[in-house]
Amino acid sequence: MKTLEGRTAFVTGASQGIGRACAIALAQAGAKIALAARNQARLDEVAAEITAAGGIAQTFLLDVASEDSIKAAAKAAVAHFGTVEILVNNAGITRDTLLLRMKRADWDDVLTTNLTGAFLVSQALLSPMLKARWGRIINISSVVGETGQAGQTNYAASKAGLIGFTKAMAREVASRGITVNAVAPGFIETAMTHVLDEKQKQAMLTQIPLGRPGTESDVAGAVTFLASEAAAYITGHVLDVNGGMYMG
Ligand SMILES: NC(=O)c1ccc[n+]([C@@H]2O[C@H](COP(=O)([O-])OP(=O)(O)OC[C@H]3O[C@@H](n4cnc5c(N)ncnc54)[C@H](O)[C@@H]3O)[C@@H](O)[C@H]2O)c1
Repeated sequence: MKTLEGRTAFVTGASQGIGRACAIALAQAGAKIALAARNQARLDEVAAEITAAGGIAQTFLLDVASEDSIKAAAKAAVAHFGTVEILVNNAGITRDTLLLRMKRADWDDVLTTNLTGAFLVSQALLSPMLKARWGRIINISSVVGETGQAGQTNYAASKAGLIGFTKAMAREVASRGITVNAVAPGFIETAMTHVLDEKQKQAMLTQIPLGRPGTESDVAGAVTFLASEAAAYITGHVLDVNGGMYMG
């Protein structure tokens, strides 16, 4: 069923991985998709995939580490589609290292992209949602933001920060028909986790009751649910998609 017919969704980091899967799943649910990321060629591929399946998508170059880029992409997407009512803050990076070795730039880059980026994109796209008196903001956090992880103080801080941001914003905009939720994926097989060696992957798997890594579509399914009417009464929530790795 096309539960999101007539809605427009803006997905950051939509060129690959979880972002791409979210864009495709939201398009399958009937939403028009603003695909936003830094790599035009890859964005074009995702747009072509959505269009070939009968969906509607438009690409927008976006670097979430740049405020100017965010403002330009948000403005262009609203101009193109007339509105944006669903936002998936998915773009994210890691710069893993132990705290004592962590450079200031490793900290700043991760916080800027993962947390400040989500703040600025949400701010840039809030007006059309306020106008529509309907909106869905879904922030892609991480299990690591709930449990912590050695070697990821910067990443865990950014993802925990996103959870606080989600709850505070949820309270702020609830009266306007806008929900704000977070999805906290566990160990999902994407480019981000391909850098782990076999030993690290096996160690991770022993922590997962469901006995397998997650897929991009496991996360996309949760995001599509939170964007749907079925989730109308859910806000300020952190939805774990982690195979039972952490039960909050
Ligand atoms: N893979 C996992 O196990 C896992 C677990 C928990 C959370 N996450 C989160 O899911 C999200 C997607 O990650 P993924 O696993 O698909 O990895 P990925 O590296 O394949 O995707 C990250 C996406 O973010 C984009 N991005 C990074 N910096 C950007 C910037 N400055 N401007 C615009 N786009 C930018 C990348 O281009 C890419 O499209 C991230 O926020 C990540 O932290 C992933």
